Amino acid sequence: MKETFKNDVNEGLSKTSKTLPSKYFYDAIGDKIFIKIMHMPEYYLTRAEHEIFKTKTAAIINALNISKDSKFDIIELGAGDGTKTKLLLEDLVSKEYQFKYLPIDISKDALNHLKCSLSKEISSLEVETKQGDYFHVLDDLKSHKNKKIILFLGSNIGNMSDDEAKQFLEKLGNSIHKDDVILLGADLIKSEDIVLPAYSDDAGVTKSFNLNLLTRINSELEANFNINKFEHLATYTEDEGIARSFLVSKEKQEVEIKSLQKSFLFEANEKIHTEDSRKYNNQILENLLENTSLQISNKLTDSNNYFADYILTKK
Ligand code: AVJ
Repeated sequence: MKETFKNDVNEGLSKTSKTLPSKYFYDAIGDKIFIKIMHMPEYYLTRAEHEIFKTKTAAIINALNISKDSKFDIIELGAGDGTKTKLLLEDLVSKEYQFKYLPIDISKDALNHLKCSLSKEISSLEVETKQGDYFHVLDDLKSHKNKKIILFLGSNIGNMSDDEAKQFLEKLGNSIHKDDVILLGADLIKSEDIVLPAYSDDAGVTKSFNLNLLTRINSELEANFNINKFEHLATYTEDEGIARSFLVSKEKQEVEIKSLQKSFLFEANEKIHTEDSRKYNNQILENLLENTSLQISNKLTDSNNYFADYILTKK
């Protein structure tokens, strides 16, 4: 992990257009800042998806095509703190469905918290956590015997480029069987005045989330980034439908990364691209699914039509 982090940082900062992968936001500090983001007034995504889970539980359960006489597994990719999922799990438990919940996350911390809170809040629920990169975990899913319901919520897919998303969905399609169901959370394309503030909030929480990437490089790779010399920048146009985040060097400066035995030069106003958060519509998702074995079989949205949970099944 440490070695890959080091190589990824070296590779990203050596490019003419500097980049850093967004997956490295989530260390112990980043996990905490992300929880703050989810509670921000500007970050409508979590609230919108929560509303879907709260008000449309019956429609979700209906779309899952499950019965009380056969066992199934709910597998969640990138489970995080599971707030939305708990609404569904509670309802299924109270209706006496027979199932197991398998949250998968790269953060061991997040999984431990989730397991602990579930044992208190839904004590009869069977939980089996799995730590790992969910792209790799997909391979293990194939041999699964029970019917699978795969949750990939929160528009986490938005951090993938369209090419990566195509590959991911192709792989996901190949790892499920005929009656399995995927619930895919996707933030919908909408105007700039709603999307942009979610990535550039007034309190500066997203800014600290972005800058934490440099703090992490400082502590894990012995670097000397001065975070006061970088600014947070978010861009979005409704035309393109992608929110992009950058760290911008406020002045010309050199940063040393000891564990790489290397220094990197930043020009004044030079950007490091740190994240893409793609927004979707039916057409975009259909394009991504084109060469996969998956199809859209249902779509549930919140009352503002900000966010959608798509139900995907085998073609
Ligand atoms: C967790 C990937 C869905 O892109 O909206 C929030 C991460 N980045 N604010 C998103 C994020 C900045 C988030 N996802």
